[in-house]
Amino acid sequence: MAPAAVDDDEILKDEKNPPPLDEDDIALLKTYAFCLPSPSHQVARCTKIISPNTEDAKYVINVKQIAKFVVGLGDKVSPTDIEEGMRVGVDRNKYQIQIPLPPKIDPSVTMMTVEEKPDVTYNDVGGCKEQIEKMREVVELPMLHPEKFVKLGIDPPKGVLCYGPPGTGKTLLARAVANRTDACFIRVIGSELVQKYVGEGARMVRELFQMARSKKACIVFFDEVDAIGGARFDDGVGGDNEVQRTMLEIVNQLDGFDARGNIKVLMATNRPDTLDPALLRPGRLDRKVEFGLPDLESRAQIFKIHTRTMNCERDIRFELLARLCPNSTGADIRSVCTEAGMYAIRARRKTVTEKDFLDAVNKVIKGYQKFSATPKYMVYN
Ligand SMILES: Nc1ncnc2c1ncn2[C@@H]1O[C@H](COP(=O)(O)OP(=O)(O)O)[C@@H](O)[C@H]1O
Ligand SMILES: [Mg+2]
Repeated sequence: MAPAAVDDDEILKDEKNPPPLDEDDIALLKTYAFCLPSPSHQVARCTKIISPNTEDAKYVINVKQIAKFVVGLGDKVSPTDIEEGMRVGVDRNKYQIQIPLPPKIDPSVTMMTVEEKPDVTYNDVGGCKEQIEKMREVVELPMLHPEKFVKLGIDPPKGVLCYGPPGTGKTLLARAVANRTDACFIRVIGSELVQKYVGEGARMVRELFQMARSKKACIVFFDEVDAIGGARFDDGVGGDNEVQRTMLEIVNQLDGFDARGNIKVLMATNRPDTLDPALLRPGRLDRKVEFGLPDLESRAQIFKIHTRTMNCERDIRFELLARLCPNSTGADIRSVCTEAGMYAIRARRKTVTEKDFLDAVNKVIKGYQKFSATPKYMVYN
């Protein structure tokens, strides 16, 4: 075992003969997802240790698609570092074990958009004041000031369910919150969990939370969760078992982590009416935040946000434009702005005029009669 308090200098001096890793170190290594072997090493698996705990212990390693070898340890590894079944890095000459490696986390999990820091801020969200307030209270406060909750002796909510019609900024706000907290942001799309990883949904969820736990702070965002979160019901054939298992695993994981820990779970759905009530029990996602269509003032603000980077003529009456887009979502307004830009491009102008915006409103809002502006969606509100 390493003595408890060795300062860094001493470790450096002792480079040739480092203290063996203790159990905590090994546990740490195991959780560290992205520790890569150096290029001069080859990854192998130590399948067996022959006469362990003795002077002449030998290690059976399996170098994938090459061969199995019986090897010794490099100078920098101590026998206590290596366990059977561990991934190890070996050198390419004598295949001696040079470094213990953490277990590999399934690359398809890491593929799920892990954003170290989303670039969206609260300034990019128009309107939604109440929603921002609520999200901050549930996500930001416990992450930035956990002591407040400890003092009061309450557990902060583990997560939030955002619901509302599509295009009202649920995904956008989730990213903005993640930005504020410096947390790692993992976004999982519900339908992806059930379709892309058929039969593996539950395992994916498990590995996802395993990865989340290995981060300093992490926000796991299940977007469009209707695909997996639908109420569990018995259809008599057991057809959607797979979806249910995925769901159960999420509930299970929600129960499994500490509310004061550094994981927060956000979910978003367009169909709150179809959600499994089990998800919303106290101690799981006990906060619900509703996103509605933006009001007049918010729409004007959203116009301003999306034209910030555009080269517009001065004094465009955004309030007027907002008035012309009743029942529109943030996403609709964004399309209007893009379309206005297209009109300017077609006319080979370098600035976008108010007339372009008016034409765009006519085309996008009136012309398409956006489905999201039809009464059908208002039902879910
Ligand atoms: N309140 C808003 N403020 C600014 N932009 C918005 C707002 N709501 C939606 N948008 C725009 O619409 C796009 C889609 O919104 P999104 O958050 O993905 O909707 P959803 O609620 O379906 O997840 C966003 O990327 C953003 O550009
Ligand atoms: Mg979304």
